[in-house]
Amino acid sequence: MTSSDSTTLEAPSCAQAAQAPVSMLALRRWPEPAGTRIPAWIYSDPAIFQREMQVFFEGPHWNFVGLECEIEQPGAYKRSWVGTRSVVMVRGEDGAVNVLENRCAHRGSQLCWESKGTVKDFTCPYHHWSYDLEGNLLGLPFLRGAMGKGGMPRDFKKSEHGLRRLRVATFNGVVWATFSEETPPLEDYLGEEILGLVNRATGGGGKKLRLLGYNRQLLPSNWKLYLENSRDPYHATLLHSFFLTFGLLRTDTAFKAVPTLGGRHGIMASTYSASTAGQQNEVTKELANLKSDFRLEDMEVVKPVDEMGDSSMINFSVMPSIFFQQHGNSLALRHLIPKSASQSELAWTHYGFEDDDEAMTRRRLKQANLMGPAGYVAIDDSEVLAKMQPSVEGAPDAVQVVTMGGVDHQPMDTMITETLIRGFYSYYRERMGL
Ligand SMILES: [Fe+2]
Repeated sequence: MTSSDSTTLEAPSCAQAAQAPVSMLALRRWPEPAGTRIPAWIYSDPAIFQREMQVFFEGPHWNFVGLECEIEQPGAYKRSWVGTRSVVMVRGEDGAVNVLENRCAHRGSQLCWESKGTVKDFTCPYHHWSYDLEGNLLGLPFLRGAMGKGGMPRDFKKSEHGLRRLRVATFNGVVWATFSEETPPLEDYLGEEILGLVNRATGGGGKKLRLLGYNRQLLPSNWKLYLENSRDPYHATLLHSFFLTFGLLRTDTAFKAVPTLGGRHGIMASTYSASTAGQQNEVTKELANLKSDFRLEDMEVVKPVDEMGDSSMINFSVMPSIFFQQHGNSLALRHLIPKSASQSELAWTHYGFEDDDEAMTRRRLKQANLMGPAGYVAIDDSEVLAKMQPSVEGAPDAVQVVTMGGVDHQPMDTMITETLIRGFYSYYRERMGL
């Protein structure tokens, strides 16, 4: 064996190992025609996942964090996530909303372990360093050592060791945060159309949101499989037996799919069509999941009151992590939290408005049964994606096809389209350099 041979058999150095995923990434080639193909390796490659976290979650994007009504009083906090990074949204002494990285400035341990609560300050369980509600380091045990020994150097400055503070923007009670100084103002990031819809979904500016509750679930799938699902009207009337059987959403529903800002965000708007419930026509012949002999004991589950005055259900996906949901009168924010290349979490926040009467609150809660981990509709998505992950992981060189409804990402007025998915990947490839 020559000396050069022996070199190739040695384990890579730490530096080489750290760079390995990046160099693998440089070898990746998106399949052609790029606009309508998706390579399966994006759902399992750890190097891709790592770059996505940097580009979309730590990069110049606004991430949903929570609702202001979840933290009414100074010291009230809620833990949340920006990608894989834990953050805490907390109401400061001055009433402002702060978003702090949930990571002790000392040794990086997680400070806050509870989902929600109220505190005077945050104290790290590990070495008891404590921080105020703005993230400033208040104090630490044994700053000057003990019995004349140890302690911090004389020039240690507490002001240099605070928690990392994220930039925060709020709009109609919804809180967004970003790690990046380069993220444009929230209004520009969302764009006019999405901003208008966020305004619509949150009561038009004059109303105060009211928290109704939470669902959380783990999804054994890559985050982009869920993001695709949330921009995929084609599956909605095929997979979701409940939707098409009870008429809330069917292929013959008046529908618009609108990618915005080059595919960054995606809108799905439909007109409520209770009148089609149980009706047979040209489209129902292809709907194997329509159970025409099924009846609901309580039709209020699918019968909305037209509270926004436009008879529409508008669901939209805001890059990278939040989905505004309106199903009937059930309003919720679906927060998509990537955990690893093959694991995600979904955190649902259900809300209404302070001025809702009892009947409206009951209707919202009843209709919320369509969503969440055991939701009449949402459970189908979790099942399909759980089965999809092993198949995309097992065949990373396989290529998926998204040509339904064309090859570009123009707005379309049919559910039988993958225009929103093509739009998303156009934006994704540009940002990822793929
Ligand atoms: Fe679905």
